[in-house]
Amino acid sequence: MGFLFSVGRPYSAKEATVEPITGEFRTGVKRGVGRFKMAKISDETRKHLKSRTRAVIAGREPDEQFGFVNTPIYRGSTVLYPDVATLSGPRPRFSYGTKGTPTTEALERAWTEMAGPGAAGTVLAPTGLAAISLALMTALKAGDHLLVTDSAYQPTRTFCNTILKRMGVETQYYDPLIGADIATLFRPNTTTILVEAPGSQSFEMQDIPAISAAAQARGICTIMDNTWATPLFFPPHERGVDLAVEAGTKYLSGHSDLMLGLVSANDAWFKRLRATFDAFAMCAGPEDCFLALRGLRTMELRLREAEKQGLALAQWFATRPEVKQVLHPALPDAPGHDIWKRDFLGASGLFSIILHPVPDAAVAAMLDGLELFGMGYSWGGYESLVIPFDCASYRTATQWNPGGQALRFQVGLEDVSDLIADLDAGFERLNAVK
Ligand SMILES: Cc1ncc(COP(=O)(O)O)c(C=O)c1O
Repeated sequence: MGFLFSVGRPYSAKEATVEPITGEFRTGVKRGVGRFKMAKISDETRKHLKSRTRAVIAGREPDEQFGFVNTPIYRGSTVLYPDVATLSGPRPRFSYGTKGTPTTEALERAWTEMAGPGAAGTVLAPTGLAAISLALMTALKAGDHLLVTDSAYQPTRTFCNTILKRMGVETQYYDPLIGADIATLFRPNTTTILVEAPGSQSFEMQDIPAISAAAQARGICTIMDNTWATPLFFPPHERGVDLAVEAGTKYLSGHSDLMLGLVSANDAWFKRLRATFDAFAMCAGPEDCFLALRGLRTMELRLREAEKQGLALAQWFATRPEVKQVLHPALPDAPGHDIWKRDFLGASGLFSIILHPVPDAAVAAMLDGLELFGMGYSWGGYESLVIPFDCASYRTATQWNPGGQALRFQVGLEDVSDLIADLDAGFERLNAVK
């Protein structure tokens, strides 16, 4: 038996030379490739598998885990080496806690597979915001000019306006609807564009293929915050994105119980992304990675349900006299619908509405009395949420003036008729105050 499985015995270089990763079971069955799997999936078959099938098989190596279906939580800092020669040779698959464990590797591999055609690899970060900063730090250096959509997640702006500014990177915000005209903003030192579609409060759709094509023509890196659609509804690298960020905290988790960020990269950028990750050692927690792998298996089912429920609710809002506008890109008369229809494969369950003007007290009466909608700054979980918001305070390239109170809804997995009844009662309270 190899030394890796010997408990309580002193380390011995001699032992280490014998079958280092082979264990033995009570049944006498030896661990080995193919023992605990169905037939090995050929590369050709893998190429044609649908995303739901890929989500089931991605990142799973039962033959490396004594036949258990799921890769367990590996906690660890130190990894032992068998001898000096190995220690001073090329870095082994697992070398130290910050460089990865079987759990993090399983999630990285799985996400690369989910990120679709053109994805070369993935690194993990402790939060979605950490993943955004990691992607930016991969692409940028002192003296660079960075273009960021005015609709970006607000803490992304804080990172650009503070840390990047201090490092000598100049950030310019642009109109999210700019499309191919982004090229008019290019300067000799423009190296990076950050896109996000749709904006996670205001829901402008961006023409990502046009922006990334203009960027590619000038050797500029395109980073996308793809959290809303996930790669299931927007395969980022196929659409020209170099570095794609996912806040795994949202739909990958699906249960509001973890924090995680993921950055996938195409072939041109993966080496640099990995090197930046190694330099920061900004590691995700092992339990969070395990839960994310668990969430991955049902992500498409949850997303499809979120899409269905979200659309049902958005359509209902569109019939309400209190609602001025519904910002849901999958609704045919919503802003950005044509781009959504052309580029996206689905819609998640997050959207906003604009109310006709009412006093603040009327909005508070509506929201405070809701029984099924929590109020909180997140989304992607199984439970429904609502927040009032106002982008006007931080926008700089465009004006946010929707002409009424804006509310963002995250639609969960409750029965949609119960949600509608709760909101119906909410509108009654709103109308009683106004
Ligand atoms: C669009 C978007 N990107 C990134 C993030 C950041 O994720 P995290 O909260 O894991 O840092 C969020 C969080 O709300 C988000 O809404």
